[in-house]
Amino acid sequence: MDNSRAQWGSKLGFILAAAGSAIGLGNIWKFPGRAYEGGGGTFVLIYLCMVIFFGIPLMLTELSMGRASQANVVGCFRKMGHKGWSWVGWVGVLGAFIITCYYSHVGGWVLRYVYSYAVEAPEVYGDPLGYFYNTLGLAADETTHFPWVAIAFAALFMLCNAVVIIRGVEGGIEKFNKIGMPALFMILVILLVRAVTLPGAEEGLKYMLSFDWSKVNFTTVLSALGQAFYSLSIGMAILITYGSYLPRSENLHRNTVLICTMDTLVAILAGFIIVPAVFATLGADHVGKGGGFAFVSLAGVFQQMPGGRLFGVLFYLLLLFAALTSCISLIEGIVAFLTEHFNWKRTPTTIITCAVMFLIGCLYTCSQAAYPLKGLWLDAVNGLTHPAFCDAMEYLTDRLMIPFCALGCCLFVGWAWKPESVIAEVEHNGVHFGLKKVYTVIIRFVAPLAIMIILGMSIFGGITLS
Ligand code: PHE
Repeated sequence: MDNSRAQWGSKLGFILAAAGSAIGLGNIWKFPGRAYEGGGGTFVLIYLCMVIFFGIPLMLTELSMGRASQANVVGCFRKMGHKGWSWVGWVGVLGAFIITCYYSHVGGWVLRYVYSYAVEAPEVYGDPLGYFYNTLGLAADETTHFPWVAIAFAALFMLCNAVVIIRGVEGGIEKFNKIGMPALFMILVILLVRAVTLPGAEEGLKYMLSFDWSKVNFTTVLSALGQAFYSLSIGMAILITYGSYLPRSENLHRNTVLICTMDTLVAILAGFIIVPAVFATLGADHVGKGGGFAFVSLAGVFQQMPGGRLFGVLFYLLLLFAALTSCISLIEGIVAFLTEHFNWKRTPTTIITCAVMFLIGCLYTCSQAAYPLKGLWLDAVNGLTHPAFCDAMEYLTDRLMIPFCALGCCLFVGWAWKPESVIAEVEHNGVHFGLKKVYTVIIRFVAPLAIMIILGMSIFGGITLS
């Protein structure tokens, strides 16, 4: 059976696909805003430490679990002889399922904006907030309508994902990433040159290179850690699946470092594009993060910059590639599990799961502005609350499921499967793993403790860090 399992066709293919999973909306629209809030260069430095101390060890752990077991995220625990830990995998797949429901819709909005900037830029510039809300079903006169534009583009986005997934690991995911990732890097460089050559960009650059330790507190550090997890696609069991397609001849350690470096580089470059561009056009205090910032505030930036419309199209294309390659990895994690666990066929499984996730995602888009759909949320500070359905979905994954699955992986590897198994997996083909001891201490003690603090802050402090 194992012989028939899909494998990456080449090392480069795997690296690009894993980097594609990691490099996503988190890098481009969350990181710059967080870096700004956290004091520019100071945050970047803290973030780098988080990637080195937690990101690399955890990514190495997930990839090793996948490669050693050659199985999907739930099946891997049984294959490693610890069936009782399968719940960690279930949390991972369920988390990936919920994230895909909304990630695919946000991807659809991004696709819509590629079109908007190519065809209707003056309309966006005229009233960016109104344009955005109108797409989501709330008109300027406060009347609401079904957000069919956003939903139609989300359907198209999901269709692109499904086509890639159906074509398989090597013929679909790997091929797509081999085109998408170089395109993403190219656009990034073009935007970087544009941003740093804007008159007034020096202030932003200076800020990104400055160190202001007075802005740093405990929350900044944890926020950098949450960002690192999300950005590296850790805690979603995706990397277990991607690792399982990796031949045993590959050097896990080197590949992990490379993937983390690429992801971090893109986040930092995005910071060096967005912060200086906003400083130069709208002014320092307009740097923000998330959808409202990417879809609304940035319109002002593109409007004021020479050649802004072209750079607008390029920016949303960048987001589109980032979102597609991440969404593909989320869906692959789910499809690999369903096809292996239930012995289902790949094509119908992909079509049905994508359709279901798209439909659930419609509630996400509809609850943004068009309809007052509410979700449920419970934490120790605010008790039982009814946030908008879309927010509740994000809380569930970002505040609970990602840290929970990451914690499960650390505890599993630290105490059940044992760090020695990861070390053996890394070293099996003669590679020397120099920092074994440090790795062991991190995976057994430091990482679980840090994640427990994040979980505690979510449940008892009512705050989100990712
Ligand atoms: N890492 C992706 C980003 O930065 C998001 C993601 C999380 C993708 C988990 C897959 C799994 O946007």
